[in-house]
Amino acid sequence: MTDTTPSQGVARYVEAAKQAAKRHALAMAAMRSCRFDTIAVHGLYTAEEALNFNQGAIIEPIYMSSSQAYRDSDEMEAALSYQIPTWCYSRIANPSIYYLEAVLALLEGYGMDGEASCCATSSGMAAIASATDPFLAVDPAAPHKPLNFVATCQVYGGTFQQFAVRKAVERGVECRWVVDSTNLADWESRIDANTRFLYGELPSNPGQAFFDLARVAEIAHAHGLPLIVDSTVATPALLRPLCHGADIVVQSVTKTLTSSGFGIAGAVVAREGITSRVGSDEMKADFAMYLKTLPNRDHGQNLSPMQAVLSLNDIRTLRSKVDLQSQSTMAVARFLAGQEKIERVDYLGLPSHPLHELATRYLFLVDAEHDARYGAPTNRYGHLMSFRVRGGAAAARRMFDALRRIWRATDLGRIKSVATIPAISTHQQQGEEGRRMADIPPNMVRLCVGAEHPDDIIVDLEQALAAIDGAVRVAVPASFSVGGASSARLAGGATPEPEKPEERPAELVRG
Ligand SMILES: Cc1ncc(COP(=O)(O)O)c(C=O)c1O
Repeated sequence: MTDTTPSQGVARYVEAAKQAAKRHALAMAAMRSCRFDTIAVHGLYTAEEALNFNQGAIIEPIYMSSSQAYRDSDEMEAALSYQIPTWCYSRIANPSIYYLEAVLALLEGYGMDGEASCCATSSGMAAIASATDPFLAVDPAAPHKPLNFVATCQVYGGTFQQFAVRKAVERGVECRWVVDSTNLADWESRIDANTRFLYGELPSNPGQAFFDLARVAEIAHAHGLPLIVDSTVATPALLRPLCHGADIVVQSVTKTLTSSGFGIAGAVVAREGITSRVGSDEMKADFAMYLKTLPNRDHGQNLSPMQAVLSLNDIRTLRSKVDLQSQSTMAVARFLAGQEKIERVDYLGLPSHPLHELATRYLFLVDAEHDARYGAPTNRYGHLMSFRVRGGAAAARRMFDALRRIWRATDLGRIKSVATIPAISTHQQQGEEGRRMADIPPNMVRLCVGAEHPDDIIVDLEQALAAIDGAVRVAVPASFSVGGASSARLAGGATPEPEKPEERPAELVRG
């Protein structure tokens, strides 16, 4: 904020901005009175917004401009000192990104008592760094004081690396892993005077660890600490951690929120008035806005405006997609649970899962009680599951290599079904010890079921399981582009046979 006395001209802009702030508050309140699907479809982009400020475009325009022009020096001064609503420069803010941020804040805050705000980032990993780093600021009065934070060890492999290597090894900030996140005493015992935040991922990728969110938030707050939650796998269609006491939510918007697979994006959504032992009043009052206007302005983890609108378009149908994918995943999980070649299936929706009862208290399809098909609160468990193939890593790889319809990729949340072997991909870098601690064995396959008909996914899995005992595929030399970024092109003879329709089991043949 500026410390110079505002000129008359600046004061004129600031006065006008007060009216704009009132209109903004009214628009937010109007949207908050709508149901989840309506918010996801419209956000703050109203007809008035379109007609008055955006040439009447019915879809949010993509403002690719690097920066904003000002009428005069007074407006520039008021804008750059953040005294009026402005987007200044696209590293700081941008209208297209603003529409995405409004939708995400409204969806994550849906049903919460109080308000939330959002800061979009260039990726989920940037969101995690943005959400955690401000709490690790060195205390100028005691610059050598050791700092620590407490986190569930069952986290996405990239998060594990960011915490264990980037923060712990490179910066000397101790990461205290909670191995069994259902053990509340374990969370609490790791907190001391130098702890700065608690962090959890739930359901975790890929193991689907789950913890009692409300109780862990209580523990955090009793010690004056914020609880930060990665809720990427659930999305706000199934779980809104802010409603259960979490202070900050991080999303890899890349995933289910952008189910089409067009690009990489992230978001930090925070409640107003977070709990923290450190940081300014300004930071605690509106953490996401603080991030956006100060640390992220200076570090530059901004999202591209093009990506913001691509993500927005996918978010409009989030609830119905998550419902469909959850139901299909349940069908696939039930099928796999009955297969002899499968050692274990992990899906929170299966009553046999040890965390099923806990997850059932938290994971609900939003607004099911207002949906004519359900008319009552309805549990849904998401699109991510994992299974372990009997016969170890070699059997898992043979099965994986035989998949035809399901894509092999390190990705999740897609409209298309995608599988990976976490031990050799997403969780490879954390090493064997890290994987053992997080319970990620080499025979585990992660499967994210898309929006195809589940019968066809089951047919694919069935033939892939049959291939475990089939002929070994002969490896052929591969060639790569000189740029090194293309996938391998096999030198000959390796094109798989086209799928034969008669391989579909009799009970799955549609008439
Ligand atoms: C649970 C979870 N959080 C965060 C991330 C990182 O997100 P991004 O790839 O958008 O940086 C991922 C990526 O797979 C993830 O699965």
